[in-house]
Amino acid sequence: MASNIHELRRRELDDFLTLALSNVGDLEDRLGLRDRAERQLRSLSRPGLWVLLGLLHALGRSPVRLLVADERGTPVGTTVTLLLGPWAYVAAVGVREDRRKQGIAQALVRHAEEIGRKARKTWLVLEVDSENEPARRLYAKLGWSAGPIVRWWELPSTPPGNREVSVRVAGRKERAMAHAAMAGRLGREFPRGLVHPCELICRGAGGPHGTLAAGPTGSPSLVLRYWAGREGESGFLLPVSTAGPSEGETGAVLDAGRAGLLRSGSRGIFVPVVGDDSQLEAVLRASGGSPKASSEFRWKSTAPT
Ligand SMILES: CC(C)(COP(=O)(O)OP(=O)(O)OC[C@H]1O[C@@H](n2cnc3c(N)ncnc32)[C@H](O)[C@@H]1OP(=O)(O)O)[C@@H](O)C(=O)NCCC(=O)NCCS
Repeated sequence: MASNIHELRRRELDDFLTLALSNVGDLEDRLGLRDRAERQLRSLSRPGLWVLLGLLHALGRSPVRLLVADERGTPVGTTVTLLLGPWAYVAAVGVREDRRKQGIAQALVRHAEEIGRKARKTWLVLEVDSENEPARRLYAKLGWSAGPIVRWWELPSTPPGNREVSVRVAGRKERAMAHAAMAGRLGREFPRGLVHPCELICRGAGGPHGTLAAGPTGSPSLVLRYWAGREGESGFLLPVSTAGPSEGETGAVLDAGRAGLLRSGSRGIFVPVVGDDSQLEAVLRASGGSPKASSEFRWKSTAPT
């Protein structure tokens, strides 16, 4: 049966939420993000938010666009597009189990692409579990490029010991250096403006965030961005090597970040490792960490081909 894709209507919200929540996947589970994903999706049913989104939508300025695929009034597929800075971030792509392999997800993602294009976003971006074959095939088929695999390590929730290496709060220039270092590693083709491919996951943590550095002031060897989780949710540490840090420096910055996240009440501390970085993985292992999940960042330009 052909499905009809349209913007979510308020009366479909409950069915939309049930379907979207049933498709929250393994990646979220392994990174302790199921509660966060559920909280964010459920916040859509707050009447005030719905009114605000309706108003922004009427003005052509809504930052969130919700799509459903329906068959005779019953939602069988969902997707959420977040319009952020220069990107359209595509999330919550899911199809009811008994309606898969009929092209519904392809149609939903194509609509989401169109939303990004019309909103004059330069890039469409999303994060996919690297073990989710059906989803990876779907995005590949639709011409989305794949970034490097990101391995997510979890660090133990016990306070780390003190290290001799000094760690400080990074300055603005040092943060910019981290950005340039990561962009250099990922290649020119990569969407500009993101320090790290998986940063959009980390940014949603909701607690305090900031940047630390080790090495000489003004030319740090390592810069680490942190996002604490709120109310016992997962927190994230993103280390970026700017000038070949020593193992001691890497360990000290990770320890300082971990101690800070634990003080802020984060439960579950995750460190994304982009592509091959054997030194960082060795330090994570020595700090009691273990790999928990892997994901792949996908992106597509909205420019006509
Ligand atoms: C991943 C997911 C969204 C795909 O949804 P879907 O509607 O089955 O996707 P599509 O039908 O558009 O494409 C899937 C396959 O069906 C095939 N297909 C499409 N129309 C078809 C048809 N009429 N007859 C037979 N096969 C068809 C497609 O070619 C594609 O095949 P491939 O996987 O071999 O390339 C779905 O499996 C799902 O909801 N998974 C759980 C949630 C999830 O993981 N979401 C992704 C988060 S990033």
